Amino acid sequence: MNKEIKPLHGVWASRWVFILAATGSAVGLGNIWKFPYITGEYGGGAFVLVYLACILVIGIPVMTAEVMLGRRGGLSPIHTMQALAKQAQGRRFWSLIGYMGALAGFLILSFYSVIAGWALYYVFKMPTAFTDATAESVDAVYKGLLADPATLTGMHFIFMVLSMGVVAFGVNRGLERMVRIVMPLLFVLLAVLLGYATTTGHFSEGLAFLFTFEPEKLTAEAVIVAMGHSFFTLSLGLGAIMAYGAYMPKEMMVGGVRKPVSIGSTVLIIALLDTLVALVAGMAIFPIVFANGLEPAAGPGLMFVTLPLAFSQMPMGILFGTLFFVLVVFAAWSSSISLGEPLVAWLVERGWKRVRASILIGVLAFILGMGTVFSFNLYSGEEYQLFGRNFFELVEFLTTNIMLPLGGLLIAIFAGWVMKETHARKELMMKNFKVYLVWRAVLRILAPLAIAVVFLHAFGII
Ligand code: PFF
Repeated sequence: MNKEIKPLHGVWASRWVFILAATGSAVGLGNIWKFPYITGEYGGGAFVLVYLACILVIGIPVMTAEVMLGRRGGLSPIHTMQALAKQAQGRRFWSLIGYMGALAGFLILSFYSVIAGWALYYVFKMPTAFTDATAESVDAVYKGLLADPATLTGMHFIFMVLSMGVVAFGVNRGLERMVRIVMPLLFVLLAVLLGYATTTGHFSEGLAFLFTFEPEKLTAEAVIVAMGHSFFTLSLGLGAIMAYGAYMPKEMMVGGVRKPVSIGSTVLIIALLDTLVALVAGMAIFPIVFANGLEPAAGPGLMFVTLPLAFSQMPMGILFGTLFFVLVVFAAWSSSISLGEPLVAWLVERGWKRVRASILIGVLAFILGMGTVFSFNLYSGEEYQLFGRNFFELVEFLTTNIMLPLGGLLIAIFAGWVMKETHARKELMMKNFKVYLVWRAVLRILAPLAIAVVFLHAFGII
C-alpha cells in the first residue's frame, strides 16, 4: 500500500525535516497566544501541572501512535484509517477517526486563521502604534482591531491565502524551507523576551503564578481545558500528525546516513520542543503582566496587550516587536498548513488536483471563519450566544476540548487494542523493548482511562 501511493504526496527528505515539520505544526498560536491566556484564566500553577501531566501521559503516547498509524497507512488520515481498519479486520467504525479528524481540522483552520490575522495586523502596527505605549493605549489598539470586521476579514483572508498556498504547492517544497529558518529564530526571540522579563522586577511573581500548585483552583472545566490544550498544542487527535507520518519512509537520512527511524525518540523531541516554547512564552508574558498591573485572566487579548507594552519599553523594541509578530505569523502558518493537509490529501487521493482542492478548502474555511470574525463585534452580544459562548468560543470548545480528545481516545484504542500488536511493534522500530512495553501499556490503559475520566468529570458524571 505504501509504495505506490507515497509519490502522490511526496516524502520527507530526512528525519530532521520531519521533526521540523511536525514541530512547525505543533508550535503555533497554541503555545504563544493560547497557553498563556488560558493559564491566566484558569489560575496558573495547578492548570499548568495538569497540562504537563496530560502531555506526558496522553500526548506523547498518542502522538507516537498517530505517527505510527500514518506511516503504516501511507495515505491521508481518512484513507489510512479505512485501510488499517480493514487490515485489522476491524469494523468500518474506525474510519470515523479520519472523518471526524478532517472535520475538526477544518473547523480549527477557520478560527485559527482569524487569530493569526491579529498577529499579522500587529506586524503592520508595531512600527507606528506602539511608541511610548501605555497599558491604555495598547488596550485601545487591541479593542479597535476587534471592533473592525473589515480589517479582521482582510487579515483573515491574507492568512488563509498564505496557508492554502503552501498546501497547494505540496508540503515539501514550501514548508520545509520555511521551518528551517523560522523555528530557530523564534526560539532566539523568545529568549530575548524572556531576558527582558527578568528585568521587569516581577519575574519571580510570574514564575510563582505559573508553577505554584493551588489545587483549589482546579475546576472540572479547567481540567478538560488543560487536556484539550495538550491535544491542541501537539496537533493531536485530528490526523495532522498522522498525515505527516504518512510522508515518513521507513528508512530516512539521519546525519547523512540512511537508517531505519524509530518513531518514539522522534516524537519525544517534538513534544519537548513544543512544551519548552509554551513554558518560555508563559515565563516571558506573566512578569510583564504583573509589572504593568494587568489582569492575568484578560483572555484572548493577553499576548496582544502585554507584549507590545514590553517592546515599547525595550531598546530597539520596535524592531524586536515587529520581528516577533512576524515570527508568530510564521509559527501559525506552519501550523495551519497541517490543519488543511489531511483534507486536501484526501481529495487528491480521490482524483482532485492539489491546487483545486486547496482552493476549495481555503474558500470554505474562510467563509466559516467569518463567524469568528463577527464573534468579536457584530455578533458579540449575549443574544448571539449559545451555552454562554459566542460562535468562536463554541467552535473552539467543541473542537479542542471535545473532538480532539475523542479522536485521541479512539486512536489510542485502535492502535492499542484493535490493530495487530506485531504490526504496531514493527512499525515503531523501538530499540528498547522495555520502553515499548511501557508505551503500549500507557496507550492501552492509562491514556484512554485518563481521557475518559476527564470527560466524565467534566460532564458531571463522576
Ligand atoms: N498545534 C498548533 C498550535 O499549538 O498552535 C495548532 C494545531 C495545528 C492544532 C494542527 C491541531 C492541528 F492539527
